[in-house]
Formats: sequence, C-alpha cells, structure tokens
Amino acid sequence: TLIPVILSGGSGTRLWPLSRQQYPKQLLPLVNRYSLLQETVRRLDGLEDIAVQSSIIVSNEEYRFVIAEQLRVLGKIGKIILEPYGRNTAPALTIAALAAMQDSDDPVLLVMPSDHVITDISVFQAIIHKGMTLAESGMLVTFGITPNAPETGYGYIQYGTALHEPGTFRIARFVEKPDLATAQNYLEEGSYLWNSGMFMMRASIWLTAIDTCRRDILEACRAAWQSGSIDGDFYRIDKTAFAACPSDSIDYAVMETLSARPDMLPPGAIIPLSAGWSDIGAWDALWRTLQKDESGNVVRGDVLLHACHDTLAFSEHRLVACIGVENVVIVETSDAVLVAHQDKTQEVKHIVDILKQRN
Ligand code: GDD
Ligand code: MG
Repeated sequence: TLIPVILSGGSGTRLWPLSRQQYPKQLLPLVNRYSLLQETVRRLDGLEDIAVQSSIIVSNEEYRFVIAEQLRVLGKIGKIILEPYGRNTAPALTIAALAAMQDSDDPVLLVMPSDHVITDISVFQAIIHKGMTLAESGMLVTFGITPNAPETGYGYIQYGTALHEPGTFRIARFVEKPDLATAQNYLEEGSYLWNSGMFMMRASIWLTAIDTCRRDILEACRAAWQSGSIDGDFYRIDKTAFAACPSDSIDYAVMETLSARPDMLPPGAIIPLSAGWSDIGAWDALWRTLQKDESGNVVRGDVLLHACHDTLAFSEHRLVACIGVENVVIVETSDAVLVAHQDKTQEVKHIVDILKQRN
C-alpha cells in the first residue's frame, strides 16, 4: 500500500504579494486552473499496479477550509492533519507516519512538497514504481534532479554505487543548502544531484530514523498526536504538546546524517528523475515555468505591454500598463504592488520581513 503524504504548511513568502500568510502559494492556481496542492494530489491519478490509499495532508490550522474545499472540488477525500504552528517538515512527516501506522499495516509513504511543478507525469509515475520497490525493501528513497545552476536553496545528493534495480543508486552523501562555493564545486564534480524534496519510505522506517536522529522530535510528536482530537475530516494535534516540539527539516534532521552514521540508520537510495521538475520558489521560477509570448512575456489579468521583453505582469484589480521594460516582474493586487528585477526576486522575502516587523 502507498499513502501520499503532502506537506503543505509552508508560507511561500517569496511569491508575495500573491502568496500571503493567510493564503500561501501552494493554495493558489499559479500554473493552471488548479492550485499547486491540487496538482500534487492529481499527480498520482492513473498510477497502475500500486494500491494508493487516500492522501494525508499535513498543514497549518489556518488553511483548513481552503484545503478541504480544494480536495472536494477534485472529488478526493483525505486525512487533513492540522498543526497549530509550523515546526518544519520533520515533525510534519513524523505525525503523518504515526497516523499512517494507525490505519494501515506499515504502508509506504510518498512524501511530496506541495510547491512543485512536474510536467511529465508518465515519467514521474514510472519512477514511483522503482521507488516503491526500494521503499518496500526498507530503504529511505530520495529523487535527484540534474542541477543546472549552483542553487543554494536545495539539498545536494552525491550518488554512490548502483543498486540492483536499474537506474537507482546508494546515497554517498547528502548536503542540505550548501554555500555558493560548495554548490559550485558540486556542480563541477558532476556526481551530485539536487534533492527534489520528495521521499519514499515505509512509515516504520521513518519512525526508526527519526528515533535514532532526533528522539526529542519523535516523543513530542507522539504526545501531540495521541492527545489530539478529530473534527470531521480534520485531525487536530495537541497544541500544548506540539509547542514543545523542536523545529527541524527532514533534510537536516535525518538525511544529512545518513552517510555519517550508516550503521545506525536505514540505507538511503537515490533515483534520478527527469520529469520536468521545478520548484516554484520565487517569481523568476514561475516566469520560467509558464508559457511565454514571442517576446518572452507572461501576462495575466488586465495588462497592456508595449515594447517589453521577458516580463511577468499580473494584475488582479487594475489596468497595468508597461512600456519598454525588460526582465521585470510586476504583480498588482488590491493592497500591494510589487515591481522587481527578475534577478532579484529571491529578495522579496526581505520585504516580507519588513512588513512582519511593521505589523
Ligand atoms: N505541514 C507542514 N509544516 N509543511 C511544511 C512546513 C511545516 O512546518 N514547513 C514547510 N512545509 C512544506 C512546504 O509547504 C513545502 O511544500 C515543503 O514542506 C518543503 O518545505 P520548504 O520550506 O519549501 O523546503 P525547502 O524548499 O527549503 O527545501 C526542501 O525542498 C528542496 C526542493 O524544493 C529540501 O528538501 C531541499 O533539500 C530540496 O532541495
Ligand atoms: Mg521549497
């Protein structure tokens, strides 16, 4: 059995002003009429030969009605686990694994972030079959993307010896978010892939791994899950117990330690994935993903462009007119307008930090 676990509690600050605290990017229809979360759920439709159970979605309390409604529109049911506050992805996955153990006999979890685009679904689904074989055998499975830039916001996985299953390898080393110089070395070295952020493992294997690496997280999550409450489709974890849970990511808490403590942890595997993966981290990434006109522009809403190139212009409430601009991002909403150079869109988070201080 396979249970998709969708992590959907991030706030996506670099896509401000469309992505907001109350309505983060994964719930927005950024690439087509479906939100990124809905696209994530739909990604497994039509998967053959694997019994897929309904998804577990772990998210913040604040987003519960939007998530429930977006699932309903797709005709999907799922278990929606609500966190009172974000403690990053390691606790979110730990709670999902505890929940999954309750209704299935040690299922394989397919952990998916909710802020990605994957264009080649058939390649993705074929890879899931390989992942299933490795995960069922007790491995912690990752998926690697061929890097094309020394991105510092990703994990880097060095692949080791080939495994029995064709196109799969042991993990030689996992390094989360290296600095620029290190990332450049990895790119030149050639044996490193980006971590896609998706993982596959049996629920019990994750629980063993987190117990070995961060028993404090496992214990806090177990307490928060056991004293939680059920409200229709919503599973609320206990606020007080979860407050005591340390914050950490799957990558730092467990994956980085895999190569350092091979005798203590379940074996790690990496499967290279070329299925048109992209992480919609910031506006420049969205511009790269979307269909552009012959001048490289992407527009949405009431927008007039004259002599513009490689510009993304979104308007929600007013007419936006641009003349002679290049490599610019313009996003108009009812209460905020962003104008940024394409190369600087990562820095939108600084604006959001200033806004948080102002509130
Ligand atoms: N439920 C819940 N709770 N979900 C969360 C939380 C939380 O506290 N924090 C983040 N998420 C969700 C986000 O919404 C996103 O879908 C996913 O978990 C991953 O979190 P990010 O915050 O986006 O991680 P990242 O982008 O910095 O790094 C991860 O993804 C990269 C690829 O996109 C790592 O796995 C990297 O190694 C990887 O390269
Ligand atoms: Mg991300």
